[in-house]
Parts: sequence; C-alpha cells; structure tokens
Amino acid sequence: MINNILTPRRLVVGGGSIEQLPQVLAQLGIKRPLLVADPNLVRLGLSTRVESVLRDAGVSYTLFTDVVEDPTDACVNAASAAIVEGDHDGVIGFGGGSAIDTAKAAAVVATLRQPIRSLMVPRIVDEAAMPVVAIPTTAGTGSEVTRACVVTDSASHEKMLILGMSCLPAAAVVDFEFTLSCPFRVTADTGLDALTHALEALVNRNRNPHADAFALSALRLIGAHLETACFEPANRAAREAMMLGATHAGLAVSNTSTALVHGMSRPIGAFFHVPHGLSNAMLLAAVTEFSAPAAPAPYAAAARALGWAKESDAETDAVAALIAGFHRLNSVLKVPTPAAFGIDKTRYFELRTTMATQALQSGTPANNPRLATEQDIEAIYAAAWVD
Ligand SMILES: [Fe+2]
Repeated sequence: MINNILTPRRLVVGGGSIEQLPQVLAQLGIKRPLLVADPNLVRLGLSTRVESVLRDAGVSYTLFTDVVEDPTDACVNAASAAIVEGDHDGVIGFGGGSAIDTAKAAAVVATLRQPIRSLMVPRIVDEAAMPVVAIPTTAGTGSEVTRACVVTDSASHEKMLILGMSCLPAAAVVDFEFTLSCPFRVTADTGLDALTHALEALVNRNRNPHADAFALSALRLIGAHLETACFEPANRAAREAMMLGATHAGLAVSNTSTALVHGMSRPIGAFFHVPHGLSNAMLLAAVTEFSAPAAPAPYAAAARALGWAKESDAETDAVAALIAGFHRLNSVLKVPTPAAFGIDKTRYFELRTTMATQALQSGTPANNPRLATEQDIEAIYAAAWVD
C-alpha cells in the first residue's frame, strides 16, 4: 500500500515561536503578506504581538479583519480581492479555524481565479497556490496543518468543503502562548473538535500507520490535558500539550479524512449556528455507538489512548468506556444538548432528511468504518436529540 503524507514545509512549534515569523516569511519568499486576522483578536490586542514582530523586521503588510465565524463565500471573496488589489505575494492567517480557513481559501481563489463553488469536493484542488503561513490561536481545528477548508455558501447555508494541496499552508507557527487567554467555552469546543479529528483519523477507512501515530499521540495529549486547560486556563503545561495535541490531530486527519461525525456535524452548524466543536460533541457518542461494531479495535485503542480504558481491558469494555467517556466529558465541559443550545425540536426533526442528504453529499461519511444509509443518519440525528 502506498501512503501519501502531506505536511506544511515548515512547522515552528513552541512558546514564543512567533518571533520566528519574519524568518519563515523570508524563507518562503513572501515580501508583502496580507495578514488575515480574527477581528475579535484584534480588538483584544492579541494581534499586536504579530504586528510588532512584522514591523520590527521591516515587513510591509496589510491587515484584513473582515473575517466572520464560519467564513462565507462573500468573506473569502473580499479577502481574495484584497490580495489581488494589494498585489500581495502571500497570506498570513491569524486566529482560530475561521481566520485560517479564510486565509487559505482566499489564497486559492486569488491564485486560481475560479469561483469557490467550483473548487468544492468531489474536486481535489492540488494546483500551486500562493503560500499561506498559519498562526493558530486555538488548540483545535488543526487547520494550520490540513489540506482542507470549509466555506459557507451565503445563499444556501451549505458548508462547502475544499480539499487538496492548494489548501495546505506552506508553514505554520504554532505558539501556545496565544491560547493562554482563550475562554473556557472556546477551549472546550476547539479541544473537542481536535479530539474528534484524532478519533475520526484513527477509525477511518483511509487510516495508515503515519496518521495513526499522530492520532494516538493527539488522543494521549488531549485525554490528559483538555480538562486542565479548560479549568486552569493559565496552566502553561496543559496549554502547550493541547496545542501540540491539536496540531497532531490535524496532521492525522489531513492525511486520512474526517468521517461520519464531521459529515453530520456540518449541517447542524449550518442550519442552527452551532459552533463546530459543539456540534461534533453532540454527535460523538451516538455516532460511536453506531460505528464501533464495525471496527472495535481502533475505537478501543482510542479509549486506551485517552486514558479512559486500561491496556488490559477487553475490546468491548474499552468501547463501552469510550461511549461513556464522551457522555461524561460533555457533562464536565458543559456541552449543551441540542435543546439546551436553543435548537427548535420541530425544526430539527423537520430538517433531518435535508441534513442527512447534505451529510452524505459531503462525502466524508463514506470514510466511516460502518457505512451509513440516509435512514441510518436520520436515526443517529434522532438519537443525538436529548429531551
Ligand atoms: Fe473539525
């Protein structure tokens, strides 16, 4: 079997690594970057660290902050237009998944000059695109090392998945110090997203030994440190471990794929504006219950890596501990049920068929160890509803 492993050309990992940004840009030949930053981080003053590093090194950059949560085609097109108008030769994405995905998608659109919808899966976009340097400020999406980005269609609310080497950042600066001020809810939601990436990589039909190593590393780090990072936000060791865990989960998922949880999670996010990590967390237990009988070994391995089962535990016991662990973790991390989040039950059940169709169309359920029909997916949406 031949494995193709894709990673950014350079990863700078560690506290204070932002100081190396000018060197990274110089190596990539980027002289005039567009700095795409989350406006909330700019308001909180977090971007001043990046901007002062750039200014001190004499790098001429333009700041772009029209980034929205769950980036839309309009937002990506605006960033792309800014790249073209400013004659920029590279893009820096600074923030959580939304800012980094905006930077990646805008760089692809500005290079290829094609509409976003034409780039979405099943097309694989491998053409050379202008370089992106990703600087994550959450320990979660792993977008800094993945070849995927998600853009929401403003008209249909559909979440379009864009996949391929064009979306892989040329470099990432992974500095956990940016996460020290990350609030509880964001730390929990993004950490749960990273956990989902590692799990879906490990159980994936495209799993391979390289991605397995990163997925297991991610699960060990996340299992040991997620709760501490949430409840002791200034704990540097926990923040550092979570940042590394999220990056390893990103490397695992980028070199396999997501599966049924992500496929089903995107429509919930799109229709009900549930943050991505939360909609994953709402589905984790129900999807695992459905899927694990088809591949108990990797699910048991996940339970052991998370520290929720012992090496000596039987496979079936480890799988049961994994499902119980997801319920426990959701409760500890105060993940709301769909109802508690404010989702209208009638509308949720009305939209089940549409959501199931969109989930299947996204392609990722095809990577699940147990293949789900549209009826199966509707049943899992129902099982994930808690009155
Ligand atoms: Fe995700």
